[in-house]
Amino acid sequence: MEQYIIKGGNPLVGEVDINGAKNAALGILAAAIMTDSTVLIENLPDVNDINVMLEAMSQIGVKVERVTSHAALISSKGINGVSVDYEYIKKIRASYYLLGALLGKYKEAEVPLPGGCNIGSRPIDLHLKGFRALGAEVSIRNGSICAKAEHLHGAHIFLDTVSVGATINIMMAACMAEGRTIIENAAREPHVVDVANFLSSMGANIRGAGTDVIRIRGVERLHSTEYSIIPDQIEAGTYMFAAAATHGDVLVKNLIPKHMEAISAKLIEMGCQVDTFDNAIRISCKGRLNGTNVKTLPYPGYPTDMQPQISVALSMAQGTSIVTESIFENRFKYMDELARMGAMVKVEGNTAIITGVDALTGARISAPDLRAGAALVLAGLAAEGITVIDDISYIQRGYENFDGKLRELGAQIERISTEKEAQKFRLKVS
Ligand code: UD1
Repeated sequence: MEQYIIKGGNPLVGEVDINGAKNAALGILAAAIMTDSTVLIENLPDVNDINVMLEAMSQIGVKVERVTSHAALISSKGINGVSVDYEYIKKIRASYYLLGALLGKYKEAEVPLPGGCNIGSRPIDLHLKGFRALGAEVSIRNGSICAKAEHLHGAHIFLDTVSVGATINIMMAACMAEGRTIIENAAREPHVVDVANFLSSMGANIRGAGTDVIRIRGVERLHSTEYSIIPDQIEAGTYMFAAAATHGDVLVKNLIPKHMEAISAKLIEMGCQVDTFDNAIRISCKGRLNGTNVKTLPYPGYPTDMQPQISVALSMAQGTSIVTESIFENRFKYMDELARMGAMVKVEGNTAIITGVDALTGARISAPDLRAGAALVLAGLAAEGITVIDDISYIQRGYENFDGKLRELGAQIERISTEKEAQKFRLKVS
C-alpha cells in the first residue's frame, strides 16, 4: 500500500497549475452519453475517479477513447445496456449521474443505490423525487434504483435541500423531457453551471444555471460538441491553504478567481496577502495566522470540501476558532488524526472548536477521505519532523500528481510503498 512520507517545515514557494474540475467532469462525462454523436471533452483531470467513471461508461457499451491524458472522445452510439454495475458505484458515488443521463436519453436506467460514505449518510431522495416529478416510475429493487418512463414531461420541482447531485441529475433528465421544467432551490456551484454549459453546447435549452431557479425546455435530441472543463475550485483552494499553512508564497494559476471568493475572503481574514489576477491568485503569508470562524454552506458560501484544509491552518493559528459543518454530518473524522499531530481540537456535533498551537509535530496518520486526506498532507507539510500518511488512494481519487506538484513548490514529500523507501527518504532529509 502506498503512503506519503513528508518532512515538514518548508514554506511552499513558486507556481502551481490547476487541472480541470473533477466534480464537473463527472457530471459532464455522464451527460456526454446523451447524444449518439461523438463528443470531445478536454481539460479532464487525470485522477482515479475519472478513470472509474470512464470504465463504468465502457461497461454499458460507450466507446471511450482517451486521446491524451487530459482529453477523451466519447461515443454512445450502439450503447448495449442501461444497467450500471455495483462495482463502479461502490468506487464513486457520482456514477449515479448515469441515472439522469440514461433516463433522459433512453427513458430507462438501472443504477445501484450508493450506500453511505465516510463523510455521512448521503441520501438521494431528492434525485428520485425529481425523476418521479418528470414522470418516471422509480423503484428500488435488489439494491438498485430502477427508473423508467413512457414519456418524460416537464415539471415544477422544488428541492427541499440545496443539492449539487440532485440539481445535475434532474437537469440532465429534464433536458430531453417534453416541455418545460423549473428546478427551484437549485444548487449554484460552479460545476452545476459547467454541466449546464456543456449540455447547452450539445443543444440543450437551459436558462438560469448559477442562480437558484433553473429553467429547462426539453429538446428531442442533443448533438456533438467539443468542450473544455473549468478549473478545479477545490484543488486550487487546497494549494491556497497549503501556502497559508506553511507560511509560503504561491501563485496558483489557471483558476477562475470568482469561484475562489469565499476561500480568498477567509485567507485575508486569517492575515494572508491575497493578490488576484485574471486567472491566477497569489497567496503569501508571513508570521502566524489569525484564528477565525467559518461555517460551510452551499455556493457561494464557504465549501464543505474546503473545511478540512481551513481547519488544519486554524490548528496553528492564533486564538480559538470555531468551524461549523452544515452540509455533511460526519466530516470531522480527521480531527483525531490532527490531534495526534498535537492540534488542540474539540468536536461537538457539527462544530469543531480549535485552539491554535505554536506548531504541529509529525506522526503516522491515515487519510479518512479525499479532502481530509489532502488536508492532512498540508498538516504534514507544516509540521515539525516526519509525517507518514496511510490510505492515500483516497487522495489520488481527486488530486492529479499531488506529491509532484507539491515538490515543485519545494515540499519534501515522496510516495513510498516499502520501509526501504521510507529509510531512504529519512536519510535524504536528515
Ligand atoms: C457534491 C460534491 C461533493 C461536495 C458536495 C457539497 C460531486 C461529485 N460531489 O456532492 O464533493 O462535498 O456536493 O458541495 O460533485 N441531500 C439530501 N437528499 C438528496 C441529496 C442530498 O438530503 O437527495 C443532502 C446531503 O445529505 C447533504 C446536502 O444535501 O447534506 C448536500 O449534498 P449534495 O449537494 O447533494 O452533495 P453531492 O452532490 O453528493
